[in-house]
Amino acid sequence: MRTHDRLRIAIQKSGRLSDPARDLLARAGLSFRESRDRLFCYGESLPIDLLLVRDDDIPGLIAEGTCDLGVVGQNVLEEQALERLEDGRGEAFRAIRELGFGRCRLSVAVPNDWDWPGPARLEGLRIATSYPQLLARWLRGQGVAAKPVVLSGSVEIAPRLGKAEAICDLVSTGATLLANQLKETATVFESQAVLVAPSTPFGDARADLAAMLLRRLDGVLSVRA
Ligand code: PRP
Ligand code: ZN
Ligand code: MG
Repeated sequence: MRTHDRLRIAIQKSGRLSDPARDLLARAGLSFRESRDRLFCYGESLPIDLLLVRDDDIPGLIAEGTCDLGVVGQNVLEEQALERLEDGRGEAFRAIRELGFGRCRLSVAVPNDWDWPGPARLEGLRIATSYPQLLARWLRGQGVAAKPVVLSGSVEIAPRLGKAEAICDLVSTGATLLANQLKETATVFESQAVLVAPSTPFGDARADLAAMLLRRLDGVLSVRA
């Protein structure tokens, strides 16, 4: 059991959110000494450490108490919150600040040469995605019955491989869709990076550390807005 006089923040190890997350924490006055393996960064200016992990692991690390705070996309957070709900596990984490970077959208895309009269076009089809919960919620709202095909990566090549007719994946610049002869048709979920915390407040020294960090972050975020 680790001591709770230091705060531990999980951020993405390498990816779209890594640099902006580190930049934000630096602006809030945090500095770190990197370990040899570059997975753990010891807080030097304050007793606040960093853990560098896969973004998809961040909600789980918060839920189990391995990390105290995290920076993750709303897409990952909401997907895993819905999954917990479905499994009957309780609410374990929540977004406490929108951070204004990492904006992207989860969208349905279909082959370029399809006509698109509307979501009913998807009826009975297979849709490849890494976000089955968000997709299923959207399909229910549209009254469309389609079959999610869950893939953890390279979702955009599923139609060419004959694994699905359409996809539902993150779009940022649109370059990935373009390169794969797909066109964006409907937005399922709008996302940006958020600060995530456990649903249950810290009952120890971490509460004061978190409150101080939030005051500093709010200062940085208000200047940016
Ligand atoms: C997403 C998505 C696409 C790409 C789209 O992956 O899966 O591959 O970004 O971006 P574009 O519209 O700018 O081409 P990302 O690497 O962000 O997330 P992941 O590694 O967690 O799947
Ligand atoms: Zn990911
Ligand atoms: Mg990807």
